Amino acid sequence: MASDAAAGARELPLLELTEVSVSYSGGAVRALQNVDLRVYRGQIVVLIGVNGAGKTTALSTISGLLPFTGGSLDTGAVLFEGQDLKSRTASARVQRGISMVMEGRRTFPDLTVEENLTAGGFTRTLAEAKESRDRVYGMFPILAERRKQLAGLMSGGEQQMLAIGRALMQRPTLLMLDEPSLGLAPLIVEQIKDYIVEINAEGTSVLLIEQNAAMALSIADYAYVLDGKSVARQGTGADLLADPVVQELYLGVAGEGRRSFRGAYEERKRGRIR
Ligand SMILES: Nc1ncnc2c1ncn2[C@@H]1O[C@H](COP(=O)(O)OP(=O)(O)OP(=O)(O)O)[C@@H](O)[C@H]1O
Ligand SMILES: [Mg+2]
Repeated sequence: MASDAAAGARELPLLELTEVSVSYSGGAVRALQNVDLRVYRGQIVVLIGVNGAGKTTALSTISGLLPFTGGSLDTGAVLFEGQDLKSRTASARVQRGISMVMEGRRTFPDLTVEENLTAGGFTRTLAEAKESRDRVYGMFPILAERRKQLAGLMSGGEQQMLAIGRALMQRPTLLMLDEPSLGLAPLIVEQIKDYIVEINAEGTSVLLIEQNAAMALSIADYAYVLDGKSVARQGTGADLLADPVVQELYLGVAGEGRRSFRGAYEERKRGRIR
């Protein structure tokens, strides 16, 4: 895994956001303001930030889902392998190698595990889809065991693994995950972390949004902190873990008498996600 500094200026970023500004509701709500972000090939890049900082918006901007949520890219560009994605539809971006696991484990509850995976490989031939499915089953034995089970009957952790498996069906170059650990027990969060590391080790670059900053920064080659629309801090995972401001705001290392930010964040989120 290359660090951002080691990647150097010569290497073309796999993904690059330059001066990206995004708004909703016809410009009434500004969600991102001049955001620059890079993912180099082979990296795990992490995005953390308070509720409403624009993390999901950043992923929607990259995946091409922004127009479906009423958002618009006002300025800036999203480049993938050096090419501007502006005129590409969401499904064309999937075909180009960008897959996403959405916030809240959006599996299809009334479809079986296998049907969910098949749906994830929608742009692939039958033979390719079968090969991908076998790889996913190899990585997640629990999904192989439950292949005929309805997704809606699986536990939260199993559904998250299914959501990740479904995104892997496209054999993406870049896998984006929006808060995969949300609401999961610590042991399952550890498993999800190990899976992300394994997926990355097999050659997939990762852009990870997390509220569990300790977990995410521990595996990050590089990380960005969004603080109300803009990038407030950035650095290697190790740098940010050692940053006193990040420690206080995102790692729950609260000073005496202060409330841990993370506890409050999770409380707010639990109310919203099914
Ligand atoms: N579809 C939408 N229409 C209008 N405003 C939106 C929409 N989606 C997001 N916003 C607003 O844009 C801002 C950024 O939201 P976004 O969901 O990207 O933040 P986030 O960092 O992912 O937050 P969270 O941690 O709560 O998931 C917020 O002020 C939010 O209210
Ligand atoms: Mg979000």
